[in-house]
Amino acid sequence: MAISPAPPVTRRRFIGLTATGVAAVAGGGAQGLFGCGDPPTGPDPSGGRSPLPAPRIMPASSGSLVAAPGTARPAARESVSAWLFDDLMPGPTIRARRGEAATIRLLNRLPEPTIVHWHGVQVPAAADGHPRDAIPPGATYDYAFPVDQRAGTFWYHPHPHHRTGAQIHRGLAGFFIISDDEEDALTLPIGEREILLLLQDRDDGPAAYEYAPTSADLHTGMLRDVPYGNGVRRPTVEVIGARYRLRLVNGSQSRIYRLGLGDGRPLTVIGNDGGLLPAPAEVDDVYLGVGERIDCLVDCAALPAGKAVILKSLPFDLPAGADASTQGMAMDLLELARGDGPTWSDPPLPATLSTVTPLGPPVAERVFVFSTDPGGAHRINGRDFEMDRIDEQVPLGRVERWILRNDSSLPHPVHVHGTQFQIESRVGGRATVYPYEGGWKDTVLVMPLETVAVRVRFERYRGVFMLHCHNLQHEDGGMMLNLEVI
Ligand code: C2O
Ligand code: CU
Ligand code: CU
Repeated sequence: MAISPAPPVTRRRFIGLTATGVAAVAGGGAQGLFGCGDPPTGPDPSGGRSPLPAPRIMPASSGSLVAAPGTARPAARESVSAWLFDDLMPGPTIRARRGEAATIRLLNRLPEPTIVHWHGVQVPAAADGHPRDAIPPGATYDYAFPVDQRAGTFWYHPHPHHRTGAQIHRGLAGFFIISDDEEDALTLPIGEREILLLLQDRDDGPAAYEYAPTSADLHTGMLRDVPYGNGVRRPTVEVIGARYRLRLVNGSQSRIYRLGLGDGRPLTVIGNDGGLLPAPAEVDDVYLGVGERIDCLVDCAALPAGKAVILKSLPFDLPAGADASTQGMAMDLLELARGDGPTWSDPPLPATLSTVTPLGPPVAERVFVFSTDPGGAHRINGRDFEMDRIDEQVPLGRVERWILRNDSSLPHPVHVHGTQFQIESRVGGRATVYPYEGGWKDTVLVMPLETVAVRVRFERYRGVFMLHCHNLQHEDGGMMLNLEVI
C-alpha cells in the first residue's frame, strides 16, 4: 500500500455493500441513515441518492474471485438479483504494487462460461482472458503474471464471446489499481480522499441489472437513462474541505460521458488509461468512452458545509447523420456533499507528474475500418470476429502506426489488449487530440466521421491478443479481431 502523509481521519467512512449486511452507514449532511432491514418509511430521506460504496480491497498477490449469482443493492431497501464477483458490486478492488507477482484464481459459479480480462494490465496471452479461454460452470482458471507497468487505474471484467455485455451488465466488474514509487512521491490524496467510481447507466427499479437489449440496442449499443456509480443509483459521497482524487472507469455498455463539474470549475486531470500524464491538464470537460479511465483532482476546500458539487455528464451532440440519438444526454453522475468535517489545505500540485517517452517513428502502418454492414452487423475491415482466425501478426518491439477509421454513423471506443499506445492525431469529427488523451492509452474514442492515428508497440509478450470496439453490443456482435504478437 502507498505510504504518504495521512489525511485527517475525521470523516466517517461509508462501508462497502456486502451480500448479507448493512447497506451503508452515512454521516450527517446530505445523507440519511440506513440500516439493513429499515422499514420503508415514506419518502427516501436521501433525496433519491445512495451513498457510494467503497469496494473491499484484495491484494493481487493472493487473489481469488468467485463469479456467481448474487444480490445487488441499487439503493437502500432495494435488492435485485445480479451476477457478482465475491457477491460484491463492484467486485473486490485488486491492488498491486509495481514489481509484485499477481496470482489470482477465478472460480466460475455462473450458469454459463466466463473468463476474466484485466483491462489495461499487460499480461502474458494466457492470462489475458481471451474468449477462447472461457471456462465452463464449476471450473477454475489460475492467473499468474508479473505486475510491471506504471501506476494507474485499470479494471477487470468478463470477456466470453457474445456474453461480455450481459455479464458486465449483470454486475461483473471491478477495479485493478497499480501503484508505484513515482506516484507515491507526488503525495496525491489517498484513503478516504481517493474515490473510485465505476460509471454505468442502467434502468431504474427491478430491471436495473437485467440484460435484455432490444434490436435497436444491438445496433446503437444499449443506452439507459439512469446513472449508477459502483452499482448504486445516483451516488453521493460526503467530503471534507480538501482535495479529492477521483478515479473513474467507464464500465457502461455503450454510453459515452462528457464529464464536467456542475459549478463550472475545470477538472484537473492527472492520469488516464495508462497512468499519470506528464503534467496536470485543466479542462472544462472530458469525453470518456466505454473502457476508458480518467484520474482527476477535485478541490472541495472552498465548498461550504451543507453544499455539494456535482460531477456531471454534460450534454453533447453527435455529428449530423449519426444514429445514436440518446448518446449525449445530461446526467448527474456523483454528488460530492460537504459534511461538517474540517478544511484541509493540500500542498500545491507538482507541475510535473511523470515522464512519458514518445514512441519513435513508425516503421509500418495498418488500417482498421469500423463499419456497419448493410445487414446491420458491426465489422472491422469488413469481417466478423472468428475465434480461431488470426487477423493481424505484429512483430514484438516494432513501432507501428495504426489508423482507426470510423466509417459508420455510431461512435466506437477502440480498445487494444496487451499494450498501451500513444495518440498521434484525430482528423474529422472533433478533429483534435485532447490534453487528457496524452500519455499512454489502451482505449480511444473514435466518433462518427473521425479517423484516429495511434503509435503502438508491443514490448513484452508474444501470443494472441485482441483489438475490439468496447461498445459491448458491438464487441459481442463481432467488432473484434485477433492479433498475434510474433
Ligand atoms: Cu475491457 Cu477486451 O476489454
Ligand atoms: Cu482490455
Ligand atoms: Cu462500436
